[in-house]
Amino acid sequence: MTLPNRIAPETLREKRIPLIQTERLVLRAPRAEDAKTIATLANDRRIAENTLRIPHPYGIKDAQCFIISANTGSDETVFLITRRDTTVLGACGVANRAGEPAELGYWLAVAFWGNGYATEAARAVIDHAFDDLGCEALHAGARVTNPASRRVLEKCGFEWTGVELYRIRSLASSAPFDRFRLDRRQWALGRQRRGNAPRGS
Ligand SMILES: CC(C)(COP(=O)(O)OP(=O)(O)OC[C@H]1O[C@@H](n2cnc3c(N)ncnc32)[C@H](O)[C@@H]1OP(=O)(O)O)[C@@H](O)C(=O)NCCC(=O)NCCS
Repeated sequence: MTLPNRIAPETLREKRIPLIQTERLVLRAPRAEDAKTIATLANDRRIAENTLRIPHPYGIKDAQCFIISANTGSDETVFLITRRDTTVLGACGVANRAGEPAELGYWLAVAFWGNGYATEAARAVIDHAFDDLGCEALHAGARVTNPASRRVLEKCGFEWTGVELYRIRSLASSAPFDRFRLDRRQWALGRQRRGNAPRGS
């Protein structure tokens, strides 16, 4: 796809992505002006090689494609993860393609790993998926060599379902992924345990 050097604002007006606030984070739609920051943060092999679709190297045009797709596509709800001081940390979203189980995905810039941010963001997106998107179950995967992501999923209440091979774009080859599932019932129990009453009650 050929992209202009800047994204026209009208290109991004087709979809409404809510703004979600957590204790330390704000999850919001990625905007045209985030492209340079996203390109800088995502351009790291440690991110690309642990996700299915992120290319490496990751440039400004990749970031622009991501922003356009996040704001216009119908089969995925993607949030930029920012700190409350507006620092961009990464992205988290749910792919909800027709005929496929809903899939949670996330990445965080390496400088911010190890602070609980991915778990905090994932919990908020999971709540949104069950509360607002009508998902009945969420699926997710972590490379078997990626204990941090596995731990994020476990902290969010996911249960291990097995191992499957997936193609990783940046490696142009396949690798085994632990697969996880969280259904609505387990999610509701987990939220109760965390002491969060459902929104609106
Ligand atoms: C996976 C990723 C999102 C984690 O982000 P993060 O903000 O560091 O995650 P959190 O701090 O919320 O939680 C990480 C957990 O993993 C644990 N962990 C980290 N490295 C670990 C290791 N080598 N072995 C075991 N546990 C590890 C941490 O201790 C923490 O668990 P704890 O809270 O019980 O102590 C981040 O590493 C990343 O973006 N990786 C590349 C992309 C990716 O893997 N995406 C997920 C695939 S869809």
